[in-house]
Amino acid sequence: MNIDFTNVDLTGLDSYKDKSLDAFKTLIEKTGEGSDFLGWIDRPVDLDMQEYERIKKASKKIQTNSDVLVTIGIGGSYLGTKAIDYAMAGYFRRENGTQLVYAGHQLSGEYLYDLLDFLKEKEFSVNVISKSGTTTEPAIAFRFLKEMAEEKYGKEEAKNRIFVTTDRQKGALKDLATKEGYETFVVPDDIGGRFSVISAVGLLPLCVAGVDIDKFVDGFKNGRKKYTINSFEENDAIKYAAIRNMLYENGKDIEVLVNYEPKLKYISEWWKQLFAESEGKDGKGLFPVSVNNTTDLHSLGQMIQDGKRNIFETVLKVQKPDKDITIKEDSDNLDGLNYLAGRDLSYVNEKAMEGTILAHIKGNVPNILLTIDDVSEESLGELLYFFEVVVGVSGYMLGVNPFNQPGVEEYKTQMFKLLGKPGY
Ligand code: PA5
Repeated sequence: MNIDFTNVDLTGLDSYKDKSLDAFKTLIEKTGEGSDFLGWIDRPVDLDMQEYERIKKASKKIQTNSDVLVTIGIGGSYLGTKAIDYAMAGYFRRENGTQLVYAGHQLSGEYLYDLLDFLKEKEFSVNVISKSGTTTEPAIAFRFLKEMAEEKYGKEEAKNRIFVTTDRQKGALKDLATKEGYETFVVPDDIGGRFSVISAVGLLPLCVAGVDIDKFVDGFKNGRKKYTINSFEENDAIKYAAIRNMLYENGKDIEVLVNYEPKLKYISEWWKQLFAESEGKDGKGLFPVSVNNTTDLHSLGQMIQDGKRNIFETVLKVQKPDKDITIKEDSDNLDGLNYLAGRDLSYVNEKAMEGTILAHIKGNVPNILLTIDDVSEESLGELLYFFEVVVGVSGYMLGVNPFNQPGVEEYKTQMFKLLGKPGY
């Protein structure tokens, strides 16, 4: 992985250096606010290997008896899995593993109705994931899925098909799992939801989906090696955090994560949650937005090129696409595309990216270029770890606690009042 800051005016960056190094020290030495939630820093080299083996065993069982794993969860209990699953599954055909379908990540009755209908024809298992064990969206979805599994398979066999990932000892879901005798996996106390893809939260469903979780963990390990170095020059995570803060203080309060490979779409969704929930508090924070190009060059592209000048971009480039296709010569050339004959589509895509970067720089949109080698488990693991360190350093630089999310409670209070939940 490589990050290039040459298209950002770095004048004045020196004054952010010490602040970023202080923030990094606060993170690594666990002396700041939210330090109870820093288990993710060493998790890649500190996995519970007994649980890891259980994850692999349960995955084999699910792959053998199920066409589909219904993965129930929201926020950090959903997005990491979805991001990696979506990136690795293949666009039209899954090459190995069991299909993941998602539930409990919104409250649409129509979605759940269609899902239950779809499952009638399928053999399925369920993995319900909630750290707190009390989140409304997954709890509602699980009530339906549990009922369907018990009706379809009987209560005893349903127990073989329901897997619960939650707190080690507390919460409604933990109590329910103990009472019903479901196999459980742990969301560690010291890892917050949006940092939890490296735990059973992500590893179990991803393993079922055919993702090589050993390689994924290796990617996190590589990230830990590179991005926990206490050096502004050698650690790009610290430098990136400093540059984001400098741009923010210079009036660039929107960061756009850009990709040119559609399979990275949910990496961006995961990234938005990571940065928004970590930084957006106390009236502060960069607003994280994402675009999927070149699709969005024909929509949000106008705003980025020409709208209010409060935007900078981080472009995610894939060095080596997994597959490619070459444009052929056409004797009629009615579409006028023969000037591209012999070119791979990845070449055209790359030129679109380079052209867009030039145009946006011209339009006063600072551009950071982040290149990953390929879309593989290892590269993505390293990328996710990189962003996690960046958000920790960046949040501390902003002066917020990056590891809580008090703002998400208000909608719940208002919703519960409207729903007549006892106590509200
Ligand atoms: O990052 C977070 O902590 C949140 O986004 C949570 O993951 C999300 O609210 C889901 O919570 P839970 O896993 O407790 O159901």
